[in-house]
Amino acid sequence: MTLYDLVAPAIEARSEPRYRIAGIRAADPLGADAILAAVPAMNRDADVPALTVALRTLVPDPDRTASLGVVDALAAVRDLGLLLGSLKRHGVEPLAAVPDALPVLEELGRRTDMVPRDTVHHYTTWNPLGDRQRMYTGDKMEGHLQNAVRMVFPALVAALDTCSELAGLAPYDPRFAAALDRTAQHVQAMVDSIDFTVAQVTPDFFARGLRPYFEEVDVAGHDYLGPAAAQVPLWLVDLTLWQSDRSSPEYDAFLDESVRYSLPSWRAFQAAHRGSTSAVSKLSAAISWESTPRLPPGLAASAVSLARVLRILKTFRARHIGMARKAYSDDLRLYDEGSGGAPIALLRTVLDLTRDNETLVRQANVGAHAPRTTPGAAAAGPVPVPVPVPVPTVSASAAGPALREKRFTA
Ligand code: HEM
Repeated sequence: MTLYDLVAPAIEARSEPRYRIAGIRAADPLGADAILAAVPAMNRDADVPALTVALRTLVPDPDRTASLGVVDALAAVRDLGLLLGSLKRHGVEPLAAVPDALPVLEELGRRTDMVPRDTVHHYTTWNPLGDRQRMYTGDKMEGHLQNAVRMVFPALVAALDTCSELAGLAPYDPRFAAALDRTAQHVQAMVDSIDFTVAQVTPDFFARGLRPYFEEVDVAGHDYLGPAAAQVPLWLVDLTLWQSDRSSPEYDAFLDESVRYSLPSWRAFQAAHRGSTSAVSKLSAAISWESTPRLPPGLAASAVSLARVLRILKTFRARHIGMARKAYSDDLRLYDEGSGGAPIALLRTVLDLTRDNETLVRQANVGAHAPRTTPGAAAAGPVPVPVPVPVPTVSASAAGPALREKRFTA
């Protein structure tokens, strides 16, 4: 247990077996502890025969596979996954080397209702701590990066609840700001995580030492990405705050690809909320309906709280892109794309979208408090009364930038 586990929102008590973190960490359904402890040495020596034997040894028979419950099945995917990534790092397509692993991974994917290989959650949150920790390299920086992702899992699960509540509220409702404030507390974990990463992991180690283990693996003709930190479900927060109707084609395409690596309940959340009216659009529409110089207190509080969460997201992304740029610089990089399948340009796009939404919310609130006339404007005649804009039923991107600007500058 890490310090963060003690202070993070408790999620273990829920009925979802994928949140039984202690149980999954403790599970060793394939009896893999001893073999996996030797993996860093095998990787250091590029010992492909040993890695191949290790994978073959761990693959359970069909009866055993079929008997595993969700907790054990997640632990089994985690343990097979370490060998998939290791073999691929040394240029071997793992399921070509050990074909018996294919039906097992497919069955475990069905049993866990997840992709048929390991994800970032298997590699970090569901990975044991201490002597039993599964690692590719055994380097302490790899452990720090695993901890950086572990830090955010409970907080993002908790943010899912607050975002879910937010989605059903109007911005005049005092609970709208309260749900945003709780979301802000949870999302702050992302900033803490990236600060920790920057302090503990060098771009050189990530680029040269670790990134090669995160390559995609061919499972029955489909390439499945490795356990990338990009699979951390920050997009669930974006979705409710702004992404559902104020996104870009690049970010949408990235999410369409990333969502499959997430938990079933998160995929259901995405399906339920995609295309809905985001918090930013709801708030901006409400502000544009107001004709008094001062916003009602509830609406003003919602604007302040929404801007605050967006600022935290922006801070994470600004610091994260700094790290990513170094790790993918011309000098260091071995790959053009991140392990999540996207280039650095995608990070720029998402940062810009986050910043634009934060700026617009902040200015909408400030604009609503500003005097309605200025000396120059008075001379030029009365200020036009803002035209109310209803809550949009089409996406902001489809509606075009003019409509977007109009809502915020009214
Ligand atoms: C050495 C450290 C890191 C590097 C070099 C790095 C690099 C990248 C890159 C290149 C992407 C683009 C998508 C892709 O992976 O293909 C990405 C996306 C992402 N990464 Fe990282 N990352 C690092 C650490 C982290 C950590 C510690 C977290 C969170 C705990 C994180 C969370 C994310 C998220 C949420 C995305 C999706 C884009 C977004 O929401 O802005 N990354 N990362």
